[in-house]
Amino acid sequence: MFNIDGRFYALTNACVHQGARVCLGKVSGTALPSRVYEFKYGHEGRILRCPWHGWEYDVTTGESLFDPATRVVTYPVIVRDGAVYVAVEERIRP
Ligand code: FES
Repeated sequence: MFNIDGRFYALTNACVHQGARVCLGKVSGTALPSRVYEFKYGHEGRILRCPWHGWEYDVTTGESLFDPATRVVTYPVIVRDGAVYVAVEERIRP
């Protein structure tokens, strides 16, 4: 669970690469697209780096930075009457 500027985000605690607990990773920013010899840094506080091999995810979407089709599972978060709820869907096994 992350709080970015007062908005909450819930991600599953497993990296899609090899299953590391991403909650043990660091939250930072990342290098943004820029011209040659230019370095732009942004998204501070929004990028979660897996502690095992460094895959990076955007906390607000769950998407990996290198391939948006690769993503950790995210859950809707509801704030009501000062309490934070995560909507986790129950799955029925066949
Ligand atoms: S387990 Fe997360 S990057 Fe390898």
